[in-house]
Formats: sequence, structure tokens, C-alpha cells
Amino acid sequence: MRLSDRIAEVAVIGGTGLEDLFEGFETVNVGTPYGISHTLSIGEIGGRRVAFLPRHGRKHSIPPHKINYRANMYALYKIGVERIIATNAVGAININFRPGDLVVPHDIIDFTRQRHLTFYDQSPVIHVDFTEPYCPEIRGILIEVARGVAGTVHEQAVYVCTEGPRFETPAEIRMFRALGCDVVGMTGMPEAVLARELGICYATICFVSNMAAGISGKLTYEEVIETSKIVMPKIRRIIVEAVGSLPRVRGCQCSSVNKPRSGG
Ligand code: HPA
Repeated sequence: MRLSDRIAEVAVIGGTGLEDLFEGFETVNVGTPYGISHTLSIGEIGGRRVAFLPRHGRKHSIPPHKINYRANMYALYKIGVERIIATNAVGAININFRPGDLVVPHDIIDFTRQRHLTFYDQSPVIHVDFTEPYCPEIRGILIEVARGVAGTVHEQAVYVCTEGPRFETPAEIRMFRALGCDVVGMTGMPEAVLARELGICYATICFVSNMAAGISGKLTYEEVIETSKIVMPKIRRIIVEAVGSLPRVRGCQCSSVNKPRSGG
């Protein structure tokens, strides 16, 4: 059940390094059948009402495998969100990618193990189409804006999502490379598929924070944070410009799915 008053039409989900976006004019916690969402800040960008959701919490206190993805995504659906721009820090598996590079993935592989990955746990049995996991319209806008802001962006990349919170082993990274993966992160799923189940457009702008395990020495979270500090001003600009560039009416097929009939 959506709220009768639309609170926001666009959402930004901030990953590592993006724990705030704007001085919102209100904050809301939304009750859902899956629990209470993170606190959402509501603000305005380019004349659009935008909800900002920091995936790991405002103080980066929620690890990737403990995020209540269903509550967060259902909350965004309930307040009227139709389009989501996400950010993710990723490790580079593709050796042509470098720390600081921007990536707009086009496909995804799910190696998570213990997350609630669907709204369709019960009857009716629903299998959503996921042939094009990311919204092509938002991807196109992110790529164009990122090119303008940063000069280059990797616009074809397969994102593999691991369970975490540990980093991967070198053997896992070799396996992922053999499978065709370019970047690895811990939060891309089930966010992307839950958005699709709700008919919400979803795409992500990733930044490479480190080379993946076994490519260049040991991995530390500090390395991820250091790179995020350098790249974040660009990511913020890209998000603001991309939100402002979204056409008023959606020109993609993302909304043409069966939506869960949960009472929430
Ligand atoms: N692996 C998984 N998740 C990540 C990484 C990584 O190397 N870097 C940033 N998020």
C-alpha cells in the first residue's frame, strides 16, 4: 500500500562514504511489514523531492549482511519513490580498472548467502524478469553525467555481490574473474532485485576503492575510506546532476512487473 501523499519521487541510497547528502527538511521512519526502515531524509534536488537513505546508517554502523533491505526498499516504495540512484564502493577484479575509477554496472551476479532476497516468499509464486537488472534509462543518464564530471567511466561491468563482511580470498577473486565479473561489492544484492519486484527503476554509480584480494597486497577498510574521501565530491556532483536530468515520465519497462500485494 502506497501512502496517498507522495513524499518523494526519487531516492538516493548512499553507500560507504556517502552517509549524508543534504540538509533535509524532514526525516521519516517508515513502518513496513518487514520492520521499520532506516531514517530517511527528505530534501529537494533540481525541483524533485528526493529521499536519502544511508544504507549503513548515518554513522556507518550496519554491516552489509545486517541491512534490512526489504524494509528499506518497501519504505521507499510506500512513500512514492519510482526511481533510485544507488552508490557502492567496489573492489576491482578487472585489472584494467583502477582505484578512483567510476563504474556503472550493466549486470550482476549474486553470491550472497543469508539475506531475504524477495518479497515473494509465499503464494502467489512470482518470478520477475531480471534480464536487464539495472534501469537502462538511469544508467544512460549516469554514464553521460559521469563522463562530463570525471572524464571517463566504465559503462559495461558485471558486479558480483558477496556476503561479507570479510573481504574475499584471492581464489574467490580468480573464480569471479573467470566467471566474467569486473567489480565486487557487498551491498548490490538484494537491493537491485527488490527494486525490480516493486517496479522501481534502479541503477548504481560505483567507485573502485581498491584492487580486489590477491591483486595488490592486503586489503583494509581504511583504504576503502581513503579512496571514498577523494572520489566522493565527484559522486555527489554526479548524483545531483543525474537527479536533475531524469525525465519527468519514465521511458523504460521497469515498472511493468507484478507488485507484491502486501498490506503494509
Ligand atoms: N570486496 C568486497 N566489497 C568491497 C570491496 C572488496 O574488495 N571493496 C569495497 N567493497
